[in-house]
Amino acid sequence: MDMATHCRRVLVTGCTGHLGSWLVLRLLEQGYVVRASVIDPEDKQDLHPLLGLPPFLTTERLEIVKADLRVVGDYDNIVKGCEGVFHLACPTNFIVEDPQKDVIDPAVQGTLNVLNACIKSSSVKRVVHVSSAAAIRFSGKDVAEQVFDESCWTDVDFCMDKKPPGWPYFVAKTLAERAAVDFAKNHNLDVVVVNPGIVNGPFLNSFIPNSVKDCLALITGEVFKLPFLMRMSYVHTDDIARAFLFLYEKAEASGRYICSSVDASISEVVHILSSRHPEFQIPTDLAYLGEPIIHYFDSSRLKKLGFQYKYTLEDMFDDAIRCCMDKGLLENMGTKPLQAQ
Ligand SMILES: NC(=O)c1ccc[n+]([C@@H]2O[C@H](COP(=O)([O-])OP(=O)(O)OC[C@H]3O[C@@H](n4cnc5c(N)ncnc54)[C@H](OP(=O)(O)O)[C@@H]3O)[C@@H](O)[C@H]2O)c1
Repeated sequence: MDMATHCRRVLVTGCTGHLGSWLVLRLLEQGYVVRASVIDPEDKQDLHPLLGLPPFLTTERLEIVKADLRVVGDYDNIVKGCEGVFHLACPTNFIVEDPQKDVIDPAVQGTLNVLNACIKSSSVKRVVHVSSAAAIRFSGKDVAEQVFDESCWTDVDFCMDKKPPGWPYFVAKTLAERAAVDFAKNHNLDVVVVNPGIVNGPFLNSFIPNSVKDCLALITGEVFKLPFLMRMSYVHTDDIARAFLFLYEKAEASGRYICSSVDASISEVVHILSSRHPEFQIPTDLAYLGEPIIHYFDSSRLKKLGFQYKYTLEDMFDDAIRCCMDKGLLENMGTKPLQAQ
């Protein structure tokens, strides 16, 4: 029997975020009672994506509760009574003052904080832990045509030593996932892990979320981000939320699942944007960036379990751009000349 038919109240952490808020919307639409944990329930600006959800969904089935990853015991009371937990909360800033204190500790200790609360509650049947392709991809041994699957792990020592851009986040996601897996084993807790590629597409926030902003760097003129886009593995906002729900409900799910539907090099993105969005000035001469190292993320484990992606790379960019335009977030970008560096 599907877990959904008898597990209706769930906790989602990180609900003010891009993925968390979209997941809350999809869960409410599926009839779940959602306990949405946020750092500060009084911060109406931060809460904007949740407060904008349709009242017919939220009035009786959305509970906004307070919890901070950095505070031991903060999740104990709010996990009680929930049959499932979607753990998404994590610092996602790439540029921070103190990597250990600002990113790594909240990600790792926060994950253990949430999982400890699950054990204490004795109501939780399954946890969906949201990790990242960043916990898979950075081994320091890039070779052409590499295929990344669930057996691959980011090398924390390599990241700490060489400090590639974004390394605190890569380390945080890797150590948090390892901590979650060990905890699950030691406490016999059902934890399913998802490793999404970069998430592109629509959003409920009033600003452009970090990952969408990265994807739109060719439009926004943030040329310093282009090396990051040389080769990327993408997934649509709605597909990732659907995958979280799918893995929660699929009884036989276990272990880690890559969730990424399209691998693309920057030239393919340039083609999509210039042909479908002539309203923007997209730089086409990117030879100065060199050739990308081609790699692929293999999502066949998730597909074999029965999950089907719905959206193409074109959909991701169309939906992200439409969402930004509707919110007035890309104004004046079309006329901004982009300079190759
Ligand atoms: N977007 C992607 O491309 C992508 C790809 C792979 C994996 N992921 C993972 O997916 C999850 C969600 O990502 P996202 O893109 O939705 O990020 P996001 O928009 O930055 O959201 C992150 C969420 O975590 C919360 N958070 C941060 N520090 C916290 C703390 N100390 N205590 C409690 N909550 C805290 C934030 O709350 P505030 O808003 O109050 O700060 C926010 O709700 C993360 O685990 C991320 O690593 C994302």
